[in-house]
Amino acid sequence: MKLLIINGPNLNLLGRREPGIYGSRSMEECLRDLRDRYPDIAIEYFQSNHEGAIIDEIHRRGTPGGSCDGIVLNAGAYTHTSLAIADAIAAVDVPVVEVHISNVAARETIRHTSLLTAVCAGVIAGFGLDSYRLAIEALRNRLES
Ligand code: DQA
Repeated sequence: MKLLIINGPNLNLLGRREPGIYGSRSMEECLRDLRDRYPDIAIEYFQSNHEGAIIDEIHRRGTPGGSCDGIVLNAGAYTHTSLAIADAIAAVDVPVVEVHISNVAARETIRHTSLLTAVCAGVIAGFGLDSYRLAIEALRNRLES
């Protein structure tokens, strides 16, 4: 099984960015733990601060020939604004799980709206970096059932 984690804007700064909200661990550490825990799953990673690059990656990996079985997507602030990313998710064939490190429902009102949830297989939010592991579990269960 091959899964792709996509992180959106500002998530390249994990570990340094607002540690009170996002924690002090880097995405590199998180990926290392995930790959150790799931040696049977190829976990690939893509990060971009650019909306179009995220859309291109969803297209490239989510369509036949993209050699990817599912996508874990933390679109960062684009979650709340990007109809274009929602359309890209709806356009591809693989399941996409929406992830948030923080509990967006408990934060500012603008973060309560996601344009992505309706086109995703599901959403996991609020468990810190463990949200990525929970999304991988959910995708694996879905793909194996
Ligand atoms: C986030 C929540 C978003 O509202 C925010 O813009 C982010 C990160 C999260 O993982 O909690 O960049 O997606």
